[in-house]
Amino acid sequence: MDLQLSEKIIIVTGGAKGIGEGISRILAEEGAIPIIIGRHEEDNRALVDELIKAGKKADYVTAELSDPEACEAAVKSVVRCFGHIDGIVNNAGQNDGVGLEHGNYDGFMASLHRNLVHYYLIVHHSLPALIKSKGAIVNITSKTAETGQGNTSAYAASNGGRNALTREWAVELLKYGIRVNGIVVAECWTPQYEKWIATLSAPEEKLKEITARIPLGGRMTTSLEIANATAFLLSEKSSHTTGQLLHVDGGYVHLDRALANA
Ligand SMILES: NC(=O)c1ccc[n+]([C@@H]2O[C@H](COP(=O)([O-])OP(=O)(O)OC[C@H]3O[C@@H](n4cnc5c(N)ncnc54)[C@H](O)[C@@H]3O)[C@@H](O)[C@H]2O)c1
Repeated sequence: MDLQLSEKIIIVTGGAKGIGEGISRILAEEGAIPIIIGRHEEDNRALVDELIKAGKKADYVTAELSDPEACEAAVKSVVRCFGHIDGIVNNAGQNDGVGLEHGNYDGFMASLHRNLVHYYLIVHHSLPALIKSKGAIVNITSKTAETGQGNTSAYAASNGGRNALTREWAVELLKYGIRVNGIVVAECWTPQYEKWIATLSAPEEKLKEITARIPLGGRMTTSLEIANATAFLLSEKSSHTTGQLLHVDGGYVHLDRALANA
């Protein structure tokens, strides 16, 4: 299937590592031009250089997305360099363990900025360009909005917000023909996941326990599997799909737990 993404300018927040990296790679393979917005200059540059060396196109803007002014400046810089924006993938975020019992106001608000506020700001500032291009939006979100996790109130609330904004924007942007969809991730092996599992007391056993509970194949989702679904939702091949929350999770959230591959 030709996704017809060639030469499309697509912003991928957090596009240098993990799920975002997978998305940048797949978009570049499809001939699109992923524009990574991420906080680590070296990571951004390393992936963009690698893609360019392989004959693909890509670029980056280094920005800390929890800073609202940096979000605006990053979008402006993309528009200045490329003249248009054809798609947005909101992806950057961090499961940062700001809980109810042991959290506090400052921690909660800071986490909303790390995980939710920039989803709004990147799209808000890109909207004039997206209206012109009839671009598409994909929000990456987490199962925690639906299942909870415990001790991560702000992250779960942010993901509830990401899901709600997916529906809300799908409605508000109908008049422009802009489609908005979300991809809900459950267990995907990324640098962030690796760091998190290492904080547990028996990481290897815990990992085995989690993967055994993933119905399809008893394995984790790969970032490329998330990326392939993202590319489809950005493309005209999904031209009548909007306001959807697609669980790319091997059945983790919805299928019967009695199916566990223990
Ligand atoms: N890995 C999983 O299992 C999983 C599950 C559910 C949801 N998610 C969601 O997927 C998204 C990506 O997660 P991941 O596991 O790939 O993470 P990751 O930490 O492995 O990669 C995230 C990338 O985004 C960048 N980034 C993060 N916050 C940023 C900020 N405020 N400003 C600029 N750059 C920033 C990081 O530097 C990194 O390059 C997150 O929003 C997370 O909520 C992941």
